[in-house]
Amino acid sequence: MTFRILLAGLGNRGKQWAGIVGAAPGIELAAAVDPSPDARAIFAERFPGVPIHEDLGRALSDVACDAVLLVTPPDGHLAQARAVFAAGKPLLCEKPVATGLDEALRIVEMSEQARLPLSIGLNFRYLPVSMALRDLVATKTYGEPGFGNFVYQRNRDGMRPGLNKYPLTMRHPMMLEQSIHHLDLIRFCYGREATHVACRTWNPGWSMYAHDANVSCLLTLDGGMEVVYLGTWTGGWNELRFEWRTDCAGGAIVQRELFSDLAAARTGDTALTTIDLPEARAFIDDSAALLDAFVAAVRGGGAPPCGGRDHLRSLALCFAAIESAETGQRVDIRAFEARHGLAP
Ligand SMILES: NC(=O)c1ccc[n+]([C@@H]2O[C@H](COP(=O)([O-])OP(=O)(O)OC[C@H]3O[C@@H](n4cnc5c(N)ncnc54)[C@H](O)[C@@H]3O)[C@@H](O)[C@H]2O)c1
Repeated sequence: MTFRILLAGLGNRGKQWAGIVGAAPGIELAAAVDPSPDARAIFAERFPGVPIHEDLGRALSDVACDAVLLVTPPDGHLAQARAVFAAGKPLLCEKPVATGLDEALRIVEMSEQARLPLSIGLNFRYLPVSMALRDLVATKTYGEPGFGNFVYQRNRDGMRPGLNKYPLTMRHPMMLEQSIHHLDLIRFCYGREATHVACRTWNPGWSMYAHDANVSCLLTLDGGMEVVYLGTWTGGWNELRFEWRTDCAGGAIVQRELFSDLAAARTGDTALTTIDLPEARAFIDDSAALLDAFVAAVRGGGAPPCGGRDHLRSLALCFAAIESAETGQRVDIRAFEARHGLAP
């Protein structure tokens, strides 16, 4: 039987999701909802035939669906998730699940109390490059991993037409919109939790963002692994630079492109050797894989992929890093999680 999705939020990412849902075998877009007349008009032109609503509450009572895909700005997620769970629907919610830890915990607790699956849009875990890196680390192909260096530098034009505008005015746009993905990938690919974080966040004078668009962290992971992280949306040069290098006892693994290109070398090698990866369209194929896993979990009753509790740990890392930046102190993650009622 076809799995029916109600899509809420028809902005940039919502339209991308509509294409992904439309192309997924056995899954269909039952209806779409957005309070913005402009967003509805643009969507109607691009996806004719999909019923469009303007109010989520009304859509939840009028549309027959098996789950909701929530692709709205994160500051509205709490009220929207409450309505979704009250309607008895499983939820696939875009990241970050909320812009505050209390709200994030509340959403996760609501899903648990209602016994309804909750998955978060950490689709980059499903990129072939992320899965291959995770595999190489887990199998210790180049020996025990000891430290990592993750660099993401770009100049993101937040004014660009078609791009979401709320990051221009929110607090910690880099940390909560972008670094959340990176810190989540560090946890996922290394298969370890962070034990401590020391962080600085800042905003250069030329930044178009109202709040900090730069993040620099030193993360200590279980087993003593150290990771240096630098992320910026306000680079002085408008060319993306990405590199994620993992140094191991017998070599190094290097991801050379944002969504692809993995290579490695043994300690004595003079050059990196490229590792073959399947082709994948970033944002599309990884999201389709996440959607598939979510639908399988809803149908089969298994643990939802990129589940809410797991996301709380990535979000806690972001907020512990923010606390570190504000206090100038290194933060103990387990103590931080306990203080916020998040202890596993
Ligand atoms: N996982 C990823 O790869 C990825 C990529 C891009 C964006 N995102 C996330 O997706 C979410 C949306 O981002 P975006 O770029 O599409 O933002 P956007 O601002 O372009 O679009 C958001 C849309 O949500 C609508 N909306 C607001 N309240 C609503 C409600 N109550 N019901 C229905 N619709 C409502 C707005 O009118 C707007 O059209 C964010 O959480 C963002 O972080 C994730």
